[in-house]
Amino acid sequence: MATPDLIPKVEDPMELFEAWFQEAQTSELNDPDAMSLATSTPDGMPSLRMILLKGHGPDGFAFYTNKESKKGQQIAANARAALCFHWKSLRRQVRVEGVLTEVSEHQADTYFGSRSRESQVAAWASNQSRPMKDRDEFIEKFTSATTKFDGKDVPRPKHWSGFLLTPGMIEFWLDQPHRMHDRLVYKKEGAQWSAERVYP
Ligand SMILES: Cc1cc2nc3c(=O)[nH]c(=O)nc-3n(C[C@H](O)[C@H](O)[C@H](O)COP(=O)(O)O)c2cc1C
Repeated sequence: MATPDLIPKVEDPMELFEAWFQEAQTSELNDPDAMSLATSTPDGMPSLRMILLKGHGPDGFAFYTNKESKKGQQIAANARAALCFHWKSLRRQVRVEGVLTEVSEHQADTYFGSRSRESQVAAWASNQSRPMKDRDEFIEKFTSATTKFDGKDVPRPKHWSGFLLTPGMIEFWLDQPHRMHDRLVYKKEGAQWSAERVYP
């Protein structure tokens, strides 16, 4: 008989993700939506950074960024990527592997429109991942973009958009006493998910 506190085998891992994500909303001190995003250079050097999950559902996991950034350039060359969530308060980890596609213009516009005006202006001021002479240069770019869009809606820069990661693998990890942790790995085969427990 399965131990009651093991990860339940469900048909759809996105539903299990949703349940864990909901719990993290109330338990985490901050940023329950923080996740690491792994991409890689065309010659195989991995690259990792934290980002925020800005949407998820049956289609996958969405985030937003500057397409001209280091990660943006890597994604353009290799759309395969991985995500990792760690909810410290719950002692749980979720790992995801899959393929990235850019979200629609409409979706990017809608999300950009939901951000604060200052964050919208900052998207114009930041040449994300490119060299900056000094902080004054950045503040100057922010101030001049603020002036440029004064009294108008701030449009979404064309280089600022979102990506959807369509998962092919989702792994749930649950802390257990004596490092006898539980891991459940879901793999997508065609339209179906299969689940398999693996040693911790
Ligand atoms: C908690 C946290 C959340 C972040 N969220 C985002 C995000 O949603 N999008 C983003 O472009 N950068 C985000 N960043 C900044 C990235 O970690 C990174 O510095 C930036 O995207 C540049 O990465 P790159 O040079 O690999 O492209 C976040 C950083 C932290 C610590």
